[in-house]
Amino acid sequence: MDVRRRSEDDLRRKIAELGPWFHNLEIGGVQTAPEHFLGDYPRFKWEGFKHVIPGDLQGCSVLDVGCNAGFYALEMKRRNAGRVVGIDTDARYLRQAQFVAAETGLNMEFKQMSVYDVGKLNEKFDLVIFMGVLYHLRHPLLALDLLYEQVVGDRMLFQCLQRGDERIPDLQEDYDFSEWSVFDRPDYPKLFFVKERYAGDPTNWFIPNKPAVEAMLSSSGFVIEANPEREVYLCRRGERHYAVEPPPGS
Ligand SMILES: C[S@@+](CC[C@H](N)C(=O)[O-])C[C@H]1O[C@@H](n2cnc3c(N)ncnc32)[C@H](O)[C@@H]1O
Repeated sequence: MDVRRRSEDDLRRKIAELGPWFHNLEIGGVQTAPEHFLGDYPRFKWEGFKHVIPGDLQGCSVLDVGCNAGFYALEMKRRNAGRVVGIDTDARYLRQAQFVAAETGLNMEFKQMSVYDVGKLNEKFDLVIFMGVLYHLRHPLLALDLLYEQVVGDRMLFQCLQRGDERIPDLQEDYDFSEWSVFDRPDYPKLFFVKERYAGDPTNWFIPNKPAVEAMLSSSGFVIEANPEREVYLCRRGERHYAVEPPPGS
């Protein structure tokens, strides 16, 4: 057996040991999740919206929340981003991300941390990536509020699983207490609560429709700049204006 063949076998073994993988990445010519149920994921999704991220991120800091094996962190680093930090709650995914950083030789930092603890980073980032995490949270608005208050310095790249109506309704600011029918409109902002599991996954909690995603982002102070593909948003930090300021810690 030649040396090249042996080192590719070692790589395959290491990748298999670190699995199962959710991100399909190509490391040294070997794919980490070639059989992914969504296809070449998340590359095929990234191809549909990568044009909204500047091609050169020199000098930009990036935080990838729920980074998984680091696909987006890696793409930002490939676009020349400066400091790139990825956080995730799952130690297995972080081991994958650290392996990817080591194999590619790109300087990225990965930490085990929940979105609810981002304040511990004590840092604002030019770009926060928050893709595919919101519907896995029991406290989605708390997460958006914490990101807005503690880490989003400028832009947020966001994605959330959506089900239900995709039309954005023209709603009044207020309705009378006797008004019920507006809530029956399919395009009213709605979060579907998953009591047991959806798609076999017990960590899916609230699945919003598109109007709810947009209303939640706006309610947390994010201004939608682009919706380049289904479920994906580029937002900037805007003004937050609750009708009534909530008490601290709420
Ligand atoms: C569907 S995957 C999305 C991964 C990646 N962001 C993407 O879009 O391809 C959800 C990720 O969020 C992570 N996650 C779940 N709850 C989290 C939390 N409270 N804080 C940070 N990450 C979390 C999971 O471990 C998983 O890696």
